Amino acid sequence: MPHPQIQPYSSEYLDDICKLIEKDLSEPYSKYVYRYFLHQWPQYSYIALLDGRLIGAIVSKQDARKNRIRGYIAMLAVDKNYRGHGIATQLANASIQAMRENSADEIVLETEVDNEAAKSFYEHLGFSRYKRLYRYYLNGRDAFRYIFLPEKALSISANK
Ligand SMILES: CC(C)(COP(=O)(O)OP(=O)(O)OC[C@H]1O[C@@H](n2cnc3c(N)ncnc32)[C@H](O)[C@@H]1OP(=O)(O)O)[C@@H](O)C(=O)NCCC(=O)NCCS
Repeated sequence: MPHPQIQPYSSEYLDDICKLIEKDLSEPYSKYVYRYFLHQWPQYSYIALLDGRLIGAIVSKQDARKNRIRGYIAMLAVDKNYRGHGIATQLANASIQAMRENSADEIVLETEVDNEAAKSFYEHLGFSRYKRLYRYYLNGRDAFRYIFLPEKALSISANK
């Protein structure tokens, strides 16, 4: 079982992150999209390294929306050869923890309606599906938007 090192994003891995995530995308992002997230909010993005090689990454941001602070998971991918070992869970937990420490009221993301792995992954983490976004992607497919409320998660664990 692989035991990667989970660490905060560092700019020398920008190209590797683009390559890793592109493999699984139905529509390509330009490098500027990655830069937009990673240069402005490096503190919410994490990478998984195995013997110095990138095998997973999560790219997130956080900003103020009306009177709420919203965290947003933009991209998440684990190398096909290393899936099913909890690596995405470790990456997502690290990013969510960083957002919680910076007072996120909610954390949201979108995923394609037919991405079964992503849907069960986020539901397993405690996210709830709350909106269907019609023809959200360039390929015409719909997305589901998911939300996680840290406050609610705290009160659930306090009541256990
Ligand atoms: C989704 C993805 C990131 C999961 O990575 P991973 O490291 O394999 O995930 P984990 O091992 O942490 O999985 C944790 C839980 O998620 C769920 N899950 C993960 N992959 C799943 C799959 N293929 N089918 C069903 N459930 C799945 C399971 O509940 C799993 O818990 P379990 O192993 O106890 O059953 C990975 O499949 C991936 O990179 N997919 C391509 C990119 C993508 O779709 N990203 C998400 C869209 S933003």
